[in-house]
Amino acid sequence: MSKPNLTSVELFAGIGGFRLAADMNGINTIWANDIDHTAVSVYKDNFGDKEIVEGDIHDYLECIPNHDFLTGGFPCQPFSKAGKKKGISDYRGTLFEVIVEILKKKNPRYFLLENVNSLLFMENGDHFRTILSALSQLDYKIEWRVFNAASFGLPQHRERVIISGSKDVSFSDTYFLTAEDEAQLKNGVIDSVARFERWRAIETSTGKFKTWGMAMQGFFVTADVCECQYESHTKLKAVLETSPDPSFDFTEDTLERIKKSQFVNKYFNGVQILYNQAGGARMGYSIFGTEGIAPTLTASTSRHYERYQVGDRFRRLTNIEYARIQGFPDHHCDATSPYNQYKLYGNAVPPIMVSYAMEKIVNRQYRTIEKQTYDLFDLVEVV
Ligand SMILES: C[S@@+](CC[C@H](N)C(=O)[O-])C[C@H]1O[C@@H](n2cnc3c(N)ncnc32)[C@H](O)[C@@H]1O
Repeated sequence: MSKPNLTSVELFAGIGGFRLAADMNGINTIWANDIDHTAVSVYKDNFGDKEIVEGDIHDYLECIPNHDFLTGGFPCQPFSKAGKKKGISDYRGTLFEVIVEILKKKNPRYFLLENVNSLLFMENGDHFRTILSALSQLDYKIEWRVFNAASFGLPQHRERVIISGSKDVSFSDTYFLTAEDEAQLKNGVIDSVARFERWRAIETSTGKFKTWGMAMQGFFVTADVCECQYESHTKLKAVLETSPDPSFDFTEDTLERIKKSQFVNKYFNGVQILYNQAGGARMGYSIFGTEGIAPTLTASTSRHYERYQVGDRFRRLTNIEYARIQGFPDHHCDATSPYNQYKLYGNAVPPIMVSYAMEKIVNRQYRTIEKQTYDLFDLVEVV
């Protein structure tokens, strides 16, 4: 079957994580936007200056062309509690509202959004409830799942929720559940908490959302699924530069402070922790090893100075290592200083992670879950 000729619009484009994923899937990005000048210069350096527009998205709502696929890792802003009723907060005035407006106006066939996984449980699920309620009223079949960068062969623990919307599929169709997930959910192998629940009305629901779910026309279902390993594991040491500049090393002082740290050599979320700070923040250092994966890379500057023991050196990660850990080409951010690159990579979405979701959608790789097997899909009871 020949691939459909799809076009996409990339909101909150940053350095183009979704753009790379679209390219991998033969989707033509025809318009993109970001407010950050440095991110836009990196984007232009990689993809040319034809599609990307620099500025506040609110000023460009009238300029967005018709498209098939809307993508975006939208900034997570607090929603107003004012006027909150039935557990739904007010998202007016936020950047999420922009997404809803564009979907209403442009009616693309698909969308794919990305955010921190804590969106599912912050404010006892109220944020996500608001998002789900707004999206599910737009005539899309919504599905979400928490994915970890480490599952895609990247050496990083980075859990993100990917939210898809599609006009192609119906209630019992799933993009993100594998046959193994289904079997586990069906047999209750995971545990009783994780078993399917019935479809529930979003607006009157309470509580946090689980790692997978679907929603449509104001109803949703959610369950906890295990992490899948889609690509083989990669250890951090496999992507490290062999002889990075000594400017990445920490000083003699580190060796002194390590004497006050506690050697633990334990793993947490796959991250090897060699030393823990002992006796308070000013005493000793936390130091990571390279036999595991990296903790989540973030935009926050303090994280860019985290210490790793590599052989007999104590150093921070290089900007090129940040690129590799996020799954970008080594020189993707060459248009800006190494200092700026850390933040841009820390904010970005790993292209391979969203490419996986995109591929399922554009190649129509959905599974239909048999109605007779699961009372989940009966939609008989609203609680
Ligand atoms: C989480 S990052 C998305 C990163 C992107 N997915 C990538 O792969 O690099 C959110 C982005 O939204 C942009 N942004 C924030 N407010 C904006 C606004 N009002 N208009 C346009 N872009 C905005 C930020 O500059 C930032 O690059």
